[in-house]
Amino acid sequence: MTQQLDWAKGFLLDFALDTGASHGATPTKRNLSQMQDMYQDAKAAARLVAGGDPLVYEFYELGAPEHAGDLAFGTSIVYPGKVGDEYFMTKGHFHTVLDTAEVYYCLAGKGGMLIENPEGDTNFFELTPGQAVYVPKRYAHRSVNTGTEKLVTFFVFRGDAGHNYGAIETEGFRKLVVDCNGAPVLIDNPKWAGGGA
Ligand code: NI
Repeated sequence: MTQQLDWAKGFLLDFALDTGASHGATPTKRNLSQMQDMYQDAKAAARLVAGGDPLVYEFYELGAPEHAGDLAFGTSIVYPGKVGDEYFMTKGHFHTVLDTAEVYYCLAGKGGMLIENPEGDTNFFELTPGQAVYVPKRYAHRSVNTGTEKLVTFFVFRGDAGHNYGAIETEGFRKLVVDCNGAPVLIDNPKWAGGGA
């Protein structure tokens, strides 16, 4: 059932946190073919795409007003899987308004948040249910599923922050998160194309 979301007067929401389905929001879905160039193992990516093009992640947003005083929120689901040794992940993005932060709260699964700022500071915060990660302003962020079940997070950010995917699509993150004997490790991204200037 679609509920009325009154962004001016407030609203109460039955929020199906694992699917987002109850609020009638349309999920944005990303299959591997939409981001296969982001993975380092091109052959493994091509094999998976040819073999059925798995759904890597989806997220639900409520259509918050794009206004500095409002808060956009929703859920993100990253599915378990790997491309070669590299875990399934989101594309990742900077906020269009770079000076805006975001909070992610882990509801289910196991994974982490990879962040980096334009100056190259990088971090990976591992997440399990009940933990929240604060993504500071000016940091690109990407969710990574390092487990065997869905990684489900709740997120909230300033309504007008916007998503800038372009910088990440053209340059990539400096680091990748790969499986090394069953544990996530950070390695340098051989495809990273930034810093050339
Ligand atoms: Ni964000």
